[in-house]
Amino acid sequence: MNDFTPSGLELPELARAHWPSAARVLSDPGHCWPRELLEQPAITRHVGRRQVMLLADPDALQAVLTAREGVFQRPRLYDRIVGRQVAEDNLVLARGPNRERHRRALAPFWHPRRMAAGLAVMNESAGRLVERWAAEAPAGPVDAVAGALRVTLTNICHLLFGFGAEDAACMVDVEAVAAEIDSHARAGAINDIAAALLRLIDRLSLSSPVVAVDDDNPFAALADTSRSSELSRAELVHNALLFMTAGHETSALTLAWALWLLAHDTGAQEALYDEIHAAGVGDILTLDDLQRLPGLNAALDETMRLFPTAPIIARQASAQVTLAGTDLEAGDVILVCFYALHRHRRLWHAPDTFRARRFLDDEDAISRHRFAFLPFSAGPHICVGSSIAVAQMTVALATIVRRFRLAPAHGRQIPPRFLITLRPQEPVPLLLTPRD
Ligand code: HEM
Repeated sequence: MNDFTPSGLELPELARAHWPSAARVLSDPGHCWPRELLEQPAITRHVGRRQVMLLADPDALQAVLTAREGVFQRPRLYDRIVGRQVAEDNLVLARGPNRERHRRALAPFWHPRRMAAGLAVMNESAGRLVERWAAEAPAGPVDAVAGALRVTLTNICHLLFGFGAEDAACMVDVEAVAAEIDSHARAGAINDIAAALLRLIDRLSLSSPVVAVDDDNPFAALADTSRSSELSRAELVHNALLFMTAGHETSALTLAWALWLLAHDTGAQEALYDEIHAAGVGDILTLDDLQRLPGLNAALDETMRLFPTAPIIARQASAQVTLAGTDLEAGDVILVCFYALHRHRRLWHAPDTFRARRFLDDEDAISRHRFAFLPFSAGPHICVGSSIAVAQMTVALATIVRRFRLAPAHGRQIPPRFLITLRPQEPVPLLLTPRD
């Protein structure tokens, strides 16, 4: 197996790291995240009247993430960054009893019993992608990001609105919106992304057969006004927007990164291909199949270690607390940096290198602290879509790897760029060779 070390974020030295505001530290790694954070548990500075702590220590992180609800709050920083003007009242932005109301109403959406229906959609969209790529590949490279975005946006739209694959008009909408979002995301135009998704929600919720598809779906009340919901129509729309933004780009970019990393490791590709065959996986992946592909899951974990697509989250102390040996006061901001945690020099061997089997073979990965690897966070705010994410990435990756051999279309590195998610700075061009 060849060891490939992909480019990471370019981080400044501590002395050159500039912290004008907590919001800027949260969103601008190139100027604000000191590279010393890869070696130290935490770095803290005064920013105006309060302290801001960048944290990458498993014990302290465990204390922050698993504390009782309210001890470490989500700061209002998020409102500005995720665009409060377009997503006023959803699961992420709601507080206290209001948040409980959102959770109660939405919980059926991510309940495991919905997964079987979701898997059918995931197989279908992955199948459509490989057919399209089989047609395009002879003419030159395909773009992994564009392909992955189409798959995951289609999946989340199905899960939310249940439109049929045979509904060509809706499908065209989704594909066009996926391309539009990709171009807005490259430009960092968050409000344009939200506006495009809101238009899509409007169109799908008016035209979709959501009710027929799925009785458990809380978003059915958007299409069928005779259904009651604890949430208002506006709240349902804002949550649909949240699930689309939280759900589709994070999974798509992880899949694109995984394809890019595997394209540099032919040995790992062959091992995954053999694993899929040895497991006797049929054309359509089943729920059981998802449990029988440890090598594929390990490759996805290793991808999320190097490129956690949600690389940092913010919390605010509500009382005095000591974290990683530093005293913080109420109001101080803690930025939990999964990116630095996952590449920390004290926690991982060869921390910047892609090792597809690390999570199966390596001592440091196997005996690691439970809070040293947290792509989906932990505690009361843990990602509610993690099973959906893992299922759709596993289905798509297995479908692609057993159909094609992958190679990078050029010899350059593709560095990551942080724009809410950790995305490749440019398209990810792959050369595909059919396996038959
Ligand atoms: C690889 C894919 C994904 C990654 C890396 C990811 C990561 C995360 C992280 C780190 C959080 C915690 C944020 C915080 O604590 O402030 C989160 C929350 C969340 N995620 Fe995901 N996510 C992924 C896929 C999905 C999917 C597919 C969905 C929906 C279907 C989803 C929906 C959500 C929602 C609604 C929240 C907010 C939960 C809450 O506040 O209670 N995510 N995600």
